[in-house]
Amino acid sequence: MKIFKSKHKLKEEISNIKDISFVPTMGGLHKGHISLIKKSQNFKGKTLVSIFINPTQFNKKNDFLSYPRNLKKDLKILKNLNVDLIYLPNLKDIFTFKVKKKIFLDKFSKKLCGKSRRGHFKGVLNIVNRFLQLIEPRYIFLGVKDFQQSYLISKHILKRKINTKVINCKTIREKNGVACSTRNNNLNKAQYKIASNVVKYLRYKKKIIKKKFSNFKFDLIKKDLLDLGVTKIDYIELYNLKNLKKPKNKKDKFRIFIAFYLNKTRLIDNI
Ligand code: PAF
Repeated sequence: MKIFKSKHKLKEEISNIKDISFVPTMGGLHKGHISLIKKSQNFKGKTLVSIFINPTQFNKKNDFLSYPRNLKKDLKILKNLNVDLIYLPNLKDIFTFKVKKKIFLDKFSKKLCGKSRRGHFKGVLNIVNRFLQLIEPRYIFLGVKDFQQSYLISKHILKRKINTKVINCKTIREKNGVACSTRNNNLNKAQYKIASNVVKYLRYKKKIIKKKFSNFKFDLIKKDLLDLGVTKIDYIELYNLKNLKKPKNKKDKFRIFIAFYLNKTRLIDNI
């Protein structure tokens, strides 16, 4: 496992590597990341994992400051996984070069998390655009838990004609149903239980909506979620993943997209 803190040293190392499978992370590695990394290792070439907590994608300073960090543990995990290359840039290393391609923000960036986290996706695309220019990976591995992020990165890659293929990977969940997320580290036991009840409730509601499409009311769903112990709901919406439209009848496929708070911890999921 080779660790790079400088983009110049990293570039030197990877200049002769034809196929790079890239897994971008903000650290706080969990089973979801591990599954992305293992998947990337099944592709030919080398796996490169980045760890960088990108301040520009946090719309609240406190959220950035309280984002879970544990580099020592992360490096141990990456070593055990036998990851080829690690890039650990600091702010200066990653933000002080000129980008060749402007970011492309698809209009879907205005929905869901785009409404409640102003500037978030611009920050995500800015950093991912920089990584893509620097690393020129053959593949980038992204989790579908962050469906909107993955969709917007794909659109940027397509529009800017970047030669990288997005590999979307399924959401990995804990036994209690909660989607793996670095932010789960900030939950106490009681909040973790509530998060699990939210997943159970939404799975149940999805079944009902599928059967009796006309018979659901978001206000009632929101009330039930607050009764379960949720502190605040940023959004709960239905979207058809194929066309990003709201489903119109029970034949339309859909997922329930949600962003909610348990005290100060914001979680997202799609079910
Ligand atoms: O999903 C994440 O961890 C981040 O948004 C990413 C893609 C690493 C960009 O900072």
